Amino acid sequence: MLDDLGRLDPNSSLPPYRQIALRLHTAIRSAPPGTKLPSGAVLAAHFGVARMTVQSAIAELAGDGLVVGRQGQGVFVTGRTGAGSFDLADVLRRARATGAVPDADELAARTGVPTDTARRALDVLHAERLASPRLTSEVAESVLDSALSAVRAAGHVLSLLPRTQRETGRCTVQLDALQRGVQDIATAMSAPLIDSPFPSSPYAWAHDLAREYLADALPQRWEHTKAVAVHAVELAHSFDDQDFHALVNAAWLHDIGYSPELATTGFHPLDGARFLRDRGFDDRVAALVAHHSAARSEADQIGLADELAEFDDEPGPVRDLLWLCDMTVGPQGQAMTFDERMTEVAARYGPDHYVTGAMTAGMPERAAAVERATAWIAEQTDPT
Ligand SMILES: [Fe+2]
Repeated sequence: MLDDLGRLDPNSSLPPYRQIALRLHTAIRSAPPGTKLPSGAVLAAHFGVARMTVQSAIAELAGDGLVVGRQGQGVFVTGRTGAGSFDLADVLRRARATGAVPDADELAARTGVPTDTARRALDVLHAERLASPRLTSEVAESVLDSALSAVRAAGHVLSLLPRTQRETGRCTVQLDALQRGVQDIATAMSAPLIDSPFPSSPYAWAHDLAREYLADALPQRWEHTKAVAVHAVELAHSFDDQDFHALVNAAWLHDIGYSPELATTGFHPLDGARFLRDRGFDDRVAALVAHHSAARSEADQIGLADELAEFDDEPGPVRDLLWLCDMTVGPQGQAMTFDERMTEVAARYGPDHYVTGAMTAGMPERAAAVERATAWIAEQTDPT
């Protein structure tokens, strides 16, 4: 039996004990009643898990009536047809070719199993990517939002370019890819079942994370963030993929440190960057977030310069464009000039606030970045 059990999938969304239960369930379906399962120690060694994990898996199967433990003898197949989540998942697998997979409530109502069993059956299908849990979740909407924003931005960029560039430039390629992505998502959302991994944009993770931490807690900041990201997409079209994704990801995440949940030092570029680093986000993006919009001046003022130095401040157009986007989008996402934005920040915080002081101290650096970014954009638009 061990040979048929396979190994754990480290990428599965099911916890190890449920993966083991699922594999045992598959194996015992073809085993005659009375078949003895390998011992807990053997199974633990086979899967490389603790005995406790195997015991949890066996307990789930025993709860569904599929196996029974006999004191001092072992665990045996009962031969009963179960009505647990794995059996239900089997039924759903067979049904998926002909119909939609319902949600847990509907499934429970239809089949008479407890809602928790239905939910656990759907978890199995989700883990196997036979149905996507994202389809009915906020995640799908947010990815769609993100993709639509990007398509709009890319369309806007296209409309600004001469025809020859429109036909041959990488913008066209990006727009096509984005439109296909949106179409995939829209199709997936309207159909409750998909067979392929969920399509997503390269910055869906950044978007989802920013939305999770900002949209409800700080709705205005979220509006600002969305507009900064869209602006970044508009401006970054001539970057190669690496720079494009770095800028757009950083744009989505640059203000995530404002989230009350993440505020540890209260200095948002540092809190955001540390959070991203801890979550395993790209070092480059975390560093761009740490240093965005002359953060170092502010760090100097409040005595956090050493902490900020945990992150490298990369020079170049990606950094400058991020700063430009942030400093030309207002607090509600409205477009502003750099001067208007600086005046607005000073007015919002007042003359005595340290942010205003830091802004004044960092003004030459900010202005220089904006100037370089503006020159860079002009060069891309008209290389002559
Ligand atoms: Fe910002």
